[in-house]
Amino acid sequence: MAVELKHNPDINPLLPTPARIIKIIEETGDVKNFYVATEEGTRPFDVMPGQLAMVSIPSVGEGMFSCTWQADNHLEFAIRRVGLLTDALHELEVGQQVGVRGPYGNGFPTEACKGKDMLFIGGGIGLAPVRSFINYCFKHREDYGKIQILYGARSKMDLCFKEELLDTWQKQPNTEVYVTIDREEPGWDGKVAFVPTYLREINPNPEGKIAVTCGPPIMIKLVLKALEEMGYQDNQVITTLEMRMKCGIGKCGRCNIASNYICLDGPVFYLDELKKLPEEY
Ligand code: FES
Repeated sequence: MAVELKHNPDINPLLPTPARIIKIIEETGDVKNFYVATEEGTRPFDVMPGQLAMVSIPSVGEGMFSCTWQADNHLEFAIRRVGLLTDALHELEVGQQVGVRGPYGNGFPTEACKGKDMLFIGGGIGLAPVRSFINYCFKHREDYGKIQILYGARSKMDLCFKEELLDTWQKQPNTEVYVTIDREEPGWDGKVAFVPTYLREINPNPEGKIAVTCGPPIMIKLVLKALEEMGYQDNQVITTLEMRMKCGIGKCGRCNIASNYICLDGPVFYLDELKKLPEEY
């Protein structure tokens, strides 16, 4: 690392907190989950499910990433390799330094969902923000009803968070986990279907339920259509437009839809809120 970060983050909130990578999990061929803690081995700051943070490499740059879990002593960022900064992040090893600042965005409405059954629907890397809410529900298990998780990826190799999907979450009480891939492949004897198709097959009853979805835009579009046809009301469906987040503070203009700023009002929205936005989201 070319530059060491040394400063008090309380002086300027735009300056990143120095942190170290304490663990890296290779989720897929192009996604790594980075565990990040302060120099003292603590969580850099508090993050609610669905919020994001800036992760930076001195002399390379910084980017906005979903915080996929806020553990007691670290934050987790599942980052897909897509360009200069993420290439550099993927080259880092345990013990190397990054900067983190945040959190940004409103996060999922964990309080408003208490007492509800939860249906989580994710596709590809879109499971990253949803995972933070799933694990939050498991951590506060008594506050939530039945939990159903539907996740799909292009192939077996592209499944993120396999250990939780295929083991840990399946063992949780009053929980159903459905995993699918897009097409047949050797060594996979599980479900083969697109997520919206599988969702219609499962046909989860909307009564008393909140659906939370994130994934590729086409998946979200078809999932929203399927949920509507299954009887879900717009105030029972939540999604996140986190891919629009760049600066996170209403300055860069990348996220605005007319006079609305996704980063200031969201990125998490109920479907009835999204439908009030003036343009196609
Ligand atoms: S992310 Fe920059 S203005 Fe919203």
